[in-house]
Amino acid sequence: MNALGKQISFHDFQHKVESFRDAVLNGLSRKPKQIPPKFFYDKTGSKLFEAILEQPEYYIPHIERALLQKHADEFAELIEPGAVWIEPGSGSCEKVQLLFERVLPAAYVPMDISGDFLQQSACYLGQQFPWLPIYAACLDFTRKMILPQGVPQGRRIVFFPGSSLGNFEPLEVQHFLVRIHRLVGKGGGLLIGVDRKKEQTVLNAAYNDAAGMTADFNLNLLSRINNELGGNFERDRFKHYAYYNDPLGRIEMHLVSLKNQQVNFCGHDFHFTEAESIHTENSYKYNPDELINLADVARFKHLKIWSDSNHYFSIYFFEAY
Ligand code: AVI
Repeated sequence: MNALGKQISFHDFQHKVESFRDAVLNGLSRKPKQIPPKFFYDKTGSKLFEAILEQPEYYIPHIERALLQKHADEFAELIEPGAVWIEPGSGSCEKVQLLFERVLPAAYVPMDISGDFLQQSACYLGQQFPWLPIYAACLDFTRKMILPQGVPQGRRIVFFPGSSLGNFEPLEVQHFLVRIHRLVGKGGGLLIGVDRKKEQTVLNAAYNDAAGMTADFNLNLLSRINNELGGNFERDRFKHYAYYNDPLGRIEMHLVSLKNQQVNFCGHDFHFTEAESIHTENSYKYNPDELINLADVARFKHLKIWSDSNHYFSIYFFEAY
């Protein structure tokens, strides 16, 4: 443990993180080529993601923020003071801050794969909320979620906003929800924001913003391979491609090769034919009945749902039974 201050502690579980090198070598050897989306988030990728959140086409954070503000008192009725709030993939911890003064947690446990970003966000939070004990856990929550030692007793609440659940495959969603159940125990809660199915034009625009932030975010993966693994990708020989796959109910993101080419890193050559893609992300969209069924299989009882007037996005509260 690395003490950052009286109320903030940093716990590094990084050794359990899957190596970027192994994941990329393995993913580019497959057919079709793929790289898991968790590798978007190096320092530059995390900053680009913050920029995506500001884009007008990417409606998720704007709607979710408004719902969190509007219904904060209702959350406080369902989740009494003194709970331990846990946030997998906490990033800038920006949304949960909207709730702290209302729900008055006993402690907050942000979990993130990016250690620098996590420390920075935890320090900033500590200044804003000096009364709140923070146990920052640097880990890959898609693999394992560990509560740092010293986290106080109290009802466990997992806060999982931003439709991050959509980045799991449906089978992985089941396993993830079961792991959350194990973490919070019976009576624990899950407050989760999930994007819904809607007109394709709205979905396609959200992942093809006019300012090109999502394209930069996607292409940054190639820069990351160059910087960290000594690769020789030329970014302008690939293009960002994102579209809604209706039968599968998901946005797919790809990096598409603009020509036949060969790329090398870590002593390995990879051949790309023209139009061949690296599949970099799926973002599944769920209607409420679909999500409530998935949660029920993992023994989460649905207690409440809040939605915007267009029914673009919903926040759900579930209790583990
Ligand atoms: C983090 N996750 C919920 C985002 C999404 O919408 O799937 C990641 C993202 N990819 C492109 N834009 C946003």
